[in-house]
Amino acid sequence: MTAHSHIGASVSRVDGHAKVTGAAKYAAEFDADGLIYGSIVTSTIAKGRILRIDVSEALRVQGVIDVLTHENRPKMADSDEAYKDDTAPDGSPFRPLYDDRIRFSDQPIALVLADDSETARFAASRVRVEYKDEAHVTDLHRARTFPLKPGATPFSPPEPRGAAEQAFAAAEVRHSSEYYVPIEHHNPMELFAATVIFEKDGKLTIYDKTQGVQNVQRYLCGVLEMKPEDVRVVSPFVGGAFGSGLRPQYQVVLAALGALALKRSVRVVLTRQQMYGLGYRPAMIQKVELGAKAGGTLDAIMHDAVTVTSQHEAFHRQETGWSGLLYTCPNAKYIHKLARLDLSTPCDMRAPSAATAVYALEAAMDELAVALRLDPLELRLRCYSERDQNDNRPYSSKALRECYRQGAEAFGWGARNPQPRSMRDGTDLIGLGMATGVWEALQMRIAVRIVLTANGHAEVSCATSDIGTGTYTIMTQVAAEMLGLPLDAVTIKLGDSTLPQSPVEGGSWIAASVSNGIVTTSYAIRDELLRLARQVPNSPLADVAAQDVALSDGKLVSKRDVSRAVSISDAMRHGGIERIEQERTTSFPRDEAHAHNTHSAVFAEVRVDEQLGVIRVARVVSAVAAGRILNTKTAASQIIGGVVWGIGMALHEETVIDHNFGRVMNANIAEYHVPTNADVHDIKVIFVDEPDDIINPLGIKGLGEIGIVGVAAAIANAVYHATGIRVRDLPITLDKLLG
Ligand code: MOS
Repeated sequence: MTAHSHIGASVSRVDGHAKVTGAAKYAAEFDADGLIYGSIVTSTIAKGRILRIDVSEALRVQGVIDVLTHENRPKMADSDEAYKDDTAPDGSPFRPLYDDRIRFSDQPIALVLADDSETARFAASRVRVEYKDEAHVTDLHRARTFPLKPGATPFSPPEPRGAAEQAFAAAEVRHSSEYYVPIEHHNPMELFAATVIFEKDGKLTIYDKTQGVQNVQRYLCGVLEMKPEDVRVVSPFVGGAFGSGLRPQYQVVLAALGALALKRSVRVVLTRQQMYGLGYRPAMIQKVELGAKAGGTLDAIMHDAVTVTSQHEAFHRQETGWSGLLYTCPNAKYIHKLARLDLSTPCDMRAPSAATAVYALEAAMDELAVALRLDPLELRLRCYSERDQNDNRPYSSKALRECYRQGAEAFGWGARNPQPRSMRDGTDLIGLGMATGVWEALQMRIAVRIVLTANGHAEVSCATSDIGTGTYTIMTQVAAEMLGLPLDAVTIKLGDSTLPQSPVEGGSWIAASVSNGIVTTSYAIRDELLRLARQVPNSPLADVAAQDVALSDGKLVSKRDVSRAVSISDAMRHGGIERIEQERTTSFPRDEAHAHNTHSAVFAEVRVDEQLGVIRVARVVSAVAAGRILNTKTAASQIIGGVVWGIGMALHEETVIDHNFGRVMNANIAEYHVPTNADVHDIKVIFVDEPDDIINPLGIKGLGEIGIVGVAAAIANAVYHATGIRVRDLPITLDKLLG
């Protein structure tokens, strides 16, 4: 039968042309007659109350229509109980203009509405605010000395096993260190924006930058007490989000409030500075303690984390448990405490918890390898586990051993001299480091509708987003494969809350979910076609069972005898119909018997200028095991992007707060450093074979996040190998090497 010609191919993005020509429209680019522009005023203090807010001067600016504050905004729900269970991620998202309380610096406190954006922004500078200032704390290192509480389920650490403290105390070789990751911000290229169209009947059509249109719709209906049929949320393209768009962000609430207040269409776009008042990767201090036998097997793992959250929400992810999952070790213990600071609530950022926790674990493993006088890769192999150590169960598939092997070979790990400072090229010290990466392979209930027309065209719809990961493309490939059509005979509709149900696009779960969802609905289409095909006079498929036919080249074909076929157009014509429409919801049964994870082995070469301390990441090889790869091109792009971000995490990224003011000092992408082209050199991505018959029918695992995991550790370990200096506080800036 059809070889899998579309699935697994290196297909360029089907939306690539629209994106590079500007035809793809983003949230701030949708227009409406008489559109009003909103500009946000944000707080200058970190904690306290608004005593008085004087908007009179702003209102006198020509072109200003209104200024909304907590005193005159339209009604908002005073309790979020009604919707919080439905809004992802869990919690009680901050509601702008809700009351007079200031919870963090740069909190939105007013929305100026004007005829054009320049006027709105100018008038926003004329809003006068009098505060009652309260003492704030924004410093994790200070807050850590306070009595701290653990977070709550479902992100509590796993159960401890064995007797970790005793085993650590008795271990032949011990390593114990603290690792620090600062607050980091997502900095997607597209600014958060919402254009709310106030329709004639009072309904709202909302173009929003988000990772989940139905999530935003539910949230707005809860906050604004509106009916679902009166709120439609649309987001066909997203210019990067990386987790910052999982939660509904405040621009959409503000734009909707403005539209409801004025009964007109309103657009709100955040400034780059205001993007730093949204969520962030929480800063964290992690203590990792490893006890080992001299032969390189682990006796004890203890991982203790303190992470930042806001005063108003206990946001956290399960950081510490990654340590006990990965390697064979009989004794493990975890502690996770929350430091509540006067900041906005953190949020998910690419591979939340793993990017940070695995950094600490894998840097600690490197230090243990040094203490053991063992090759770091050899240490990983001696601790290799075929089972999820936390839950003592096998994996649905785990080809990490092959990642180590192929990655090491492609990188040339064998040529590494284990002695720090032993390899150099002129004035450059050369360092080679490696680390393991691990992430979850999740999948979520999802609905897909397919309309197949007699001319052999399919329209596939689902409310999922494509946050830039390539969802349009892989959906096209899977549908073309399953329906036996060329790629250009498939149209994808997504990013609209009126489409079939989808979770937010995050957690690397959409590729697996929507692909298998397309399979389910395609089978329903096939069954309906077969029913029609059997009715064709002298049908060659009269006695062929559904599972024995497939769609190929516009025909329904017997898999056993390809000469027995009925074309789509003949089947429909005889049935007297022009189109078949089917919608199915696909659920993924809970498989408690297996762990489901993706893995990677990351190898990095750094070159450190001995006199200046300048660090260059010359080469990275990332060997990834992520099930069956849907599209080798878009998949490799995801991993390359993750590696680039890992370079940023290791060497550049840090949100700097002036704790006197509780305010971000580098709220712009000039002073918040991210890797530029000059920082990124040779990156090689390898996908190892990882057949998985257990996880889902297509054997797919997502890979949007695994690419960043382990990268910062591999680079930090390479810096140690180059210089003999162990920097445990990220980012590794040159001053830390010279000091
Ligand atoms: Mo991702 S941090 O789940 O968008």
